[in-house]
Amino acid sequence: MSTGVLRAGIQGLGVYVPTRVLTNDDLAKMVDTSDEWITTRTGIKRRHIAGPDEVTSDLALIAARRALDDAGIGPRDLDLIIVGTATPDMFFPATACLVQDRLGAKQVGAFDLLAACSSFVYGLITAGQLIAAGAVQRALVIGAETLSRLIDWEDRRTSVLIGDGAGAAVLGPVTDGTGIYSGAVGADGSAGDVLKVQAGGSRMPISSEAIERKLHRAYMDGQAVFKLAVRTIPGLIKEAVARAGWTLDQVDRIVPHQANLRIIESMVAQLHLPMEKFVVNIQEYGNTSAASVPLALYEAVQAGQIRRGDRIVLAAFGGGFTYAACAMIWGK
Ligand code: COA
Repeated sequence: MSTGVLRAGIQGLGVYVPTRVLTNDDLAKMVDTSDEWITTRTGIKRRHIAGPDEVTSDLALIAARRALDDAGIGPRDLDLIIVGTATPDMFFPATACLVQDRLGAKQVGAFDLLAACSSFVYGLITAGQLIAAGAVQRALVIGAETLSRLIDWEDRRTSVLIGDGAGAAVLGPVTDGTGIYSGAVGADGSAGDVLKVQAGGSRMPISSEAIERKLHRAYMDGQAVFKLAVRTIPGLIKEAVARAGWTLDQVDRIVPHQANLRIIESMVAQLHLPMEKFVVNIQEYGNTSAASVPLALYEAVQAGQIRRGDRIVLAAFGGGFTYAACAMIWGK
């Protein structure tokens, strides 16, 4: 049914996680931690870790091919590829260009987007606006990460939290009343210090001293990130829902960034919504950063938790501090 209103809708989804699995018990053999601590503090039981020869574009490429197949289109039908990642293959060329080449998506525009764990939702909103404005027809938005490469595996405060993976969505124009209704993005650059990789950029090029001090590894003030997330995300979800012209109780599912089960439980309490409305798969993957929301979305669709016509909200937060939420009616 055509409503005449042009929106961007997700027409295909694909994901990929590395086959290598690291359980909490495996980690307890590497650092001073336990399955009990990790489970009760985070909800994580396992995570998938890239093999030694597997890089971000490898994960992204498989997810991208699966999303294109799901949408029933080929790489040359695309106009734009956005890869959201904080762990690109290299500084430049952009991982999106590497994926473009390997997909065979000749001449298709390609760029990376860095908003840490919020990158996929930022990318979806960006591409969605370009489609709604008629600037592009079809876009491929990918969230792909190999955070395992940035982690100090001896640091139990961060190593237990993360996992690797990729998720991709094909976005195209829809006029049947489904698609993206609103997007809300934000950032608080003054909180950049709570989650960072200091060395490797222009401020502190890689040096033996930086490596010695492990400044090329991810640093996180976990409690500060936790507080920022629980203070920001419920309001962000409300904003995206209000901008869509909906009320919270009309929302069928919320797909939150999978960083910590306790952060999701805090959203549940603050929004006065039942836990069943929130998609949770952190137990299997840990925090996969930009891949987390598409991985959770994909699994919810596969499980029949999200069906055509459902009102859903995707919500993410991450280093920066960045945050983004997107309200859509599921159309597949
Ligand atoms: N295993 C066992 N003990 C650990 C541990 C681990 N993996 N990590 C930390 N601890 C210890 C600490 O050393 C501390 O010990 P102490 O009391 O003797 O000093 C104790 O556990 C409590 O640490 P604390 O940091 O207060 O725990 P917490 O309840 O805040 O949980 C996080 C830590 C990281 C799980 C939590 O803060 C969090 O999830 N933050 C958000 C992280 C996030 O979302 N990051 C990604 C953003 S995109």
